[in-house]
Amino acid sequence: MAILDTNTYEWFVKAFHPKSGLDLNFYKQNQMERRINSFMSSRGYKNYPDFIKALDQDKDLYDAFFKHLTINVTQFFRDTNQWKTLREEILPKLLEKKVPLKIWSAGCSSGQEPYSMAITLMEYFPQARFTILATDIDVNVLEQAKKGIYKEADFASTAPEIIPKYFTPVDGGYQIKEQVKRAVTFQKQNLLTDRFDSGFDLLACRNVVIYFTEDAKDMLYRKFSDSLNPGGILFTGSTEHLFGMSHLGFKLVSSFFYQKQL
Ligand SMILES: C[S@@+](CC[C@H](N)C(=O)[O-])C[C@H]1O[C@@H](n2cnc3c(N)ncnc32)[C@H](O)[C@@H]1O
Repeated sequence: MAILDTNTYEWFVKAFHPKSGLDLNFYKQNQMERRINSFMSSRGYKNYPDFIKALDQDKDLYDAFFKHLTINVTQFFRDTNQWKTLREEILPKLLEKKVPLKIWSAGCSSGQEPYSMAITLMEYFPQARFTILATDIDVNVLEQAKKGIYKEADFASTAPEIIPKYFTPVDGGYQIKEQVKRAVTFQKQNLLTDRFDSGFDLLACRNVVIYFTEDAKDMLYRKFSDSLNPGGILFTGSTEHLFGMSHLGFKLVSSFFYQKQL
């Protein structure tokens, strides 16, 4: 087998995979390479072997790097118009057909997306019964999600009357109330390698696949299709389209909402 030059991206990808479980071959090389190199130079590392060694020895460095790579920017009710569509068009139809609804927020970051789902159901569909699974590859964001403490900036897209109803003011921000927290189950999961549960009626995977290769996206959407019930909805992010994926059996029902064929 050829020995890889330690200065190459391929070398880094191979060395990082067993440490992190993250196979960067599924992600677009130019974006990832840029992110790795900018992080390394901001911390004063000049070559991949020294950096890999430092990642082994320094957990804070590892966590900061993993966070930088996986990009967990999020917000409650991010892209408000999409949440309006969810509330006014998608959920009423889903709830007409089936209760309890089985929902999954895949790539949930620090919890704002699945908690926004729970709040939407509690606020606008108080009789609805539902379960929400929320998964992410990054254990640190999942810990934050379970604590459920958020800063003012997280609420930039939230209707003001929602905050006192579902959050309690605490030192440094607002904490999600117990009744909302109880509605969401958080789990670590790598969307590219782990097994998926099935029988979902609504699956949100938003702003997660932006850096995935086309092959990785195709594989993922295929697995999502298998995980959804017929008639189930896939809710995507603003930059994510399933163009050319008609073979997966999804039909666009409203911008960013795709229905698995009945
Ligand atoms: C930009 S955030 C999106 C959060 C939320 N869905 C939203 O739209 O506001 C992307 C999340 O995807 C997660 N992610 C990236 N690659 C992943 C993978 N292979 N498996 C699971 N989660 C992944 C990151 O850890 C990050 O928390």
